[in-house]
Amino acid sequence: MKVRAASGDPARVAADVLAVPLFSLDAQAPELPARLRRVDAALGGRIESLVATGDFRGRPGETSTVYPDGEEGPTRIVLVGLGDESKADADALRRAAGTALKAAAGRKAERLVVLAPSSRRVRHAPAARALTEGALLASYRFEGWREEDPDAGKGVTDVTLLYDRTADARGVRRPIAEGTAIAESQNLARELSNLPGNALPPAALAREAQKMSRAVGLRCRVFGPTELKRRNMGAILAVGGGSANPPRLVVMEHGKRRARGARRGRPTVCLVGKGVTFDSGGISIKPSAAMDEMKHDMSGAAAVIGAMRAVALLKLPLHVVGIVGAAENLPSGTAYRPGDLVRSASGKVIEVLNTDAEGRVVLADALHFANTEYEPDAIVDLATLTGAMVIALGSWCSGAYGSDDDLLERLRKAGEASAERVWPMPLWQGHKDAIKSRVGDLKNTGGREAGSATAAAFLAAFVGDTSWAHLDIAGTAWTGKGGPYQPPGATGVGVRLLIELLQSWRKG
Ligand code: BES
Ligand code: MN
Ligand code: ZN
Repeated sequence: MKVRAASGDPARVAADVLAVPLFSLDAQAPELPARLRRVDAALGGRIESLVATGDFRGRPGETSTVYPDGEEGPTRIVLVGLGDESKADADALRRAAGTALKAAAGRKAERLVVLAPSSRRVRHAPAARALTEGALLASYRFEGWREEDPDAGKGVTDVTLLYDRTADARGVRRPIAEGTAIAESQNLARELSNLPGNALPPAALAREAQKMSRAVGLRCRVFGPTELKRRNMGAILAVGGGSANPPRLVVMEHGKRRARGARRGRPTVCLVGKGVTFDSGGISIKPSAAMDEMKHDMSGAAAVIGAMRAVALLKLPLHVVGIVGAAENLPSGTAYRPGDLVRSASGKVIEVLNTDAEGRVVLADALHFANTEYEPDAIVDLATLTGAMVIALGSWCSGAYGSDDDLLERLRKAGEASAERVWPMPLWQGHKDAIKSRVGDLKNTGGREAGSATAAAFLAAFVGDTSWAHLDIAGTAWTGKGGPYQPPGATGVGVRLLIELLQSWRKG
């Protein structure tokens, strides 16, 4: 599906669906904006009557369809509610575009034209980017291995954002290209997360990262078991040891690193993702209810791969390194066990108390690698790390832990702007004390209390003094119900958030 911009008369546009987003209308005296009144008059006045009767009020998510008469012009008009104009933001537009796309797809439409809304609150460029993202994100579906349905049709192939003035249509080309890069990258992240464990073991996840890297011009390295052993990465090897599908560490690199000792130049940011391609819990096996959902336990890795794709396409003026620790957590005769002492690449010894707390063990080596190999200005990791996070914050936001309040605040702001919300959580010395081991350096669990914070405290031991933030996306990476631009399943959370963070990175 392609999104573009054009200018012209909405009453004469060739479209299967013309979507008309409308802000909430005054309940007492509903009145169409002047611009629409002209269009509506040319199409037979149907919109006016829908509004005058109060049958369409412009509430968020509300839709109404009208069929204009006349030879030329759109086949259908779908009114889409935007909600209160005083509260309008990018996500209101993203949701409206998603609703329009779904309405069009439901009517087997191929050509969707969206009348670009004008509002004093959201300027043309960010509005176009949000509309583009909403439409493309809503068009994603996980097809799995189903055979193609011959009656399904092509789906929506073209989306046109329609403006009155040619200059406006020209002015949004770049935001449309950006929105396309970001949304398609998020859809890639969703696809990887939705793929089951048998379809995407660690080696296949690494291959997908390589394939993506080649396509967009990123450098990419993949370490298999031999290289992992050579680098003393005993932690990721321990987690992967129970599976016939051995682990991988993937490194994707964009831009050049600043010369050694140089104070100016592009900052280095490392993005690190948990890539547990299936989490059975290992010897500390999980209950079987909903265990299938643990195919998405590589959503942090998926977000990193998706974000790296967008970073490359947007040519961000930063040195960005994406690192994925990929392993499969299964019980077997070669699996790591509760009680095991595992030496990580950092030299720190991990006492394994629960093999189901595997994400932090994988990340121990990935974070240490990021920190020592790149000496970055900042590290951001993403992981479906703890069930406790799902209980604490639900699917409303991801929890953020870290050592740098400024980085956490910038993540929080990026979360608001991208509608992939992030909320700061406490990380104190007490949390670090809770995971001290008597027989090694760290225990891999700190018990039931503050389970997400003690998991974060574990990660903190592997990033040195580097500015670092950990995003626990256990509650946000998967949805049972979906939304206007979100089908049920993997969300691809983190891609929009990371791009927002990196695009607003202070100049180095
Ligand atoms: N992948 C899980 C966490 C998870 C749970 C992600 C639900 C998404 C949805 C993680 O590896 C895990 O099993 N964590 C354990 C840690 C415990 C054993 C200390 C947990 O949260 O129960
Ligand atoms: Mn686990
Ligand atoms: Zn896990």
